[in-house]
Amino acid sequence: MVKILFVCLGNICRSPLAEAQFNDLTAKKRLSQYFEVGSAGTASFHVGDPPDFRTVKVGLENNILITHLGRQLSRDDFKNNDYILVMDSANYLDVIEAKPENSKCDILYLRSFDPHANGSMEVPDPFYGTINDFEMVFSLIGRSVKGLLDYLIDKHQIPKHR
Ligand code: 4NP
Repeated sequence: MVKILFVCLGNICRSPLAEAQFNDLTAKKRLSQYFEVGSAGTASFHVGDPPDFRTVKVGLENNILITHLGRQLSRDDFKNNDYILVMDSANYLDVIEAKPENSKCDILYLRSFDPHANGSMEVPDPFYGTINDFEMVFSLIGRSVKGLLDYLIDKHQIPKHR
């Protein structure tokens, strides 16, 4: 079982989308059994909150139901996960700072798996943007989670089903 956690700032926009899109992809490929997937925010201001309505809308437009409730990254997350995938450099710095010294958890930029990233490592924060920004974020997360899945299949020798 490969355990992965998507992390953003508020855990109501980008990381719940990434979690749901990764789960959707592995379900379609019949690979769900190999993964345990979650999401969390570095900040506490949306703990217990449902996803932003624009996150839900863009998910539904793509037949993905997003029901995650916001939670904050905790010390245990570093013990309970093999990978933490961050959305931007602020998340990266916050996660690195919170990482216990003995943790073997890999901290990676989700966007590093986007073949069309053009050198950018960031999944931009759409919170102060429009629905168009959420749609743009949805498509770049989609490309990134595909790249991530291919990387994990290869690295952990997960059999590819037909
Ligand atoms: P997220 O977006 O980190 O992708 O969930 C944000 C959500 C809330 C806020 C900022 C970013 N906020 O300032 O409340």
